[in-house]
Amino acid sequence: MRAYLDAPVERSGTHCEKWDELERHFGRNDLIAMWVADMDFRTAPQIVDAIVTRARHGIYGYTDNGQEDRRAEAEWLQRRHGLAIEPDWILFSPGVVDSIFLCVNALTGPEDSVLIQTPVYGPFHWAAQLYKRKLVFNPLLETPEGWRMDFGDLEAKFARGVRLMILCSPHNPVGRVWREDELARLVALARRYGVIIVSDEIHADFVFDGLRQTRILSVEGAAECSVLLTSATKSFNLAGLRQSSMIVASEKLRGQLAQALKLAHADSPNLFGAIAQTAAYRHGDEWMDAVVEYVRENRDYAAAYIAANIPQIGCRPPEGTYLLWLDFRRLGMTQEALVDLLVNHAHVALNDGLFFGESGRGWFRMNLATRRQNVVDTLDNIRDAIRSR
Ligand SMILES: Cc1ncc(COP(=O)(O)O)c(C=O)c1O
Repeated sequence: MRAYLDAPVERSGTHCEKWDELERHFGRNDLIAMWVADMDFRTAPQIVDAIVTRARHGIYGYTDNGQEDRRAEAEWLQRRHGLAIEPDWILFSPGVVDSIFLCVNALTGPEDSVLIQTPVYGPFHWAAQLYKRKLVFNPLLETPEGWRMDFGDLEAKFARGVRLMILCSPHNPVGRVWREDELARLVALARRYGVIIVSDEIHADFVFDGLRQTRILSVEGAAECSVLLTSATKSFNLAGLRQSSMIVASEKLRGQLAQALKLAHADSPNLFGAIAQTAAYRHGDEWMDAVVEYVRENRDYAAAYIAANIPQIGCRPPEGTYLLWLDFRRLGMTQEALVDLLVNHAHVALNDGLFFGESGRGWFRMNLATRRQNVVDTLDNIRDAIRSR
């Protein structure tokens, strides 16, 4: 499996945003692509086989209701995360971002406020902005022990009136894995103030160091006020197939979201997305374990390298996700100058921290889900660019 993950894979010329769109996003092509959150690993062989076998059939007509796919997903959640759900709680949607937008549209009104915890994945901001809801920030706190929620600020904002909160769990980009007691406190506050929690758990399979990801629906009291968003696309590198799930225990919320899917005519599954997801959830355990271990080693390599060779960059190893959130503020450079340094001198493409909101100024996000050599080269290049500045 290690050789499989270490092998170079040519992604250029494959309709691949990360490697084929460098020029458009960064102004040049000769960069190591460490940005878009997909992986440079081929997915599990069992998934490829399932897709190829079905593709050979040659008829790609309308797809069934997905009951078998729901069962496979429920079994994965039980086996890997200890979460018991009813398969019927699952509503399929084309993507997690689609689901976030749908939740904001269907579960809030024009006067309602939507709360997010910044810095956070760009589309969380857009969901509120595009639907013209009031966007309320509950900035995360960087403490010596790591990233934490500011519960005092959160409660004050809930008390002033928030209808829906979009939670990122584990958190992109800071890599925090929220603990059960933190989520229990959050759910208690949400119930007290009538807030719906939309919990984006797309990164939940990437959790390191023996930590356990607490799925929101396993928190006491969460079932009535929460929507869990998840997908096999992040875990198994299937994002181009467009498939995800909203898992909703509350009949009332599920009815509202099912109706919203119907209104958007987005309630029929993608054939290959469904096939890939079910093959992943049925046969993907060993591949998943190997990838998580590989990413963890990349993370440890990067953290040790930065501490030893580029101490100007702040780096807190993530507890979850395959993303490294890097703090360049000590260099005292403007965002534009940092982008120039990374792109035109280090020749690497990282995500600009401003994609995650204003509090991302001075920060960049690096994708660790790639073969080790890319991580080594990226860090060597950044070190050299900073030294010769
Ligand atoms: C937190 C988070 N949510 C959602 C997505 C995208 O999900 P989808 O491709 O299913 O829309 C990403 C992709 O990077 C992400 O990091």
